[in-house]
Amino acid sequence: MERTFLMVKPDAVQRNLIGEIVSRFERKGFKLVGAKFMKITNELAETHYQEHKGKPFFDNLVSFITSGPVFAMVWEGKEVITTARKMMGKTNPQEAETGTIRGDFGLVTHRNVIHGSDSEQSAKREISIFFQENELIEYKKTVDDWLA
Ligand code: TYD
Ligand code: MG
Repeated sequence: MERTFLMVKPDAVQRNLIGEIVSRFERKGFKLVGAKFMKITNELAETHYQEHKGKPFFDNLVSFITSGPVFAMVWEGKEVITTARKMMGKTNPQEAETGTIRGDFGLVTHRNVIHGSDSEQSAKREISIFFQENELIEYKKTVDDWLA
């Protein structure tokens, strides 16, 4: 079953949006398999965002993501990677459709509420840098039978 890495960013934690965001993925039918309320170190931030190293926004991105606690999560389900990206909306909240998380709760790109893996490869990589294998819980939900 497909898994993705999602993270409620420091702006959304400060704005009391953890529950709202978690709720959207729960109601959609995805399964939470891991979660961690944590403060990201500089080193982890640079590893996580390594593809953006050298870009003009990189330093600000690292300071922002390390500026306060985040809620890091792993979610599982059918096509969860692309569906979660759709539910998040475009990177720039001004361009994100209403009804998406960034469209509903964000105003500016540098504080855009949520992170989500953009491919199978980045999901694998991001899950492995934030979580140990034994922090991810495999379990059965009876509701799964209604979503297949
Ligand atoms: P990116 O991976 O392009 O976006 P996404 O989060 O949708 O996968 O960029 C990573 C983060 O970097 C993005 O969420 C916000 C920040 N960012 C900026 O601050 N300015 C920019 O111009 C871009 C493209 C991203
Ligand atoms: Mg990205």
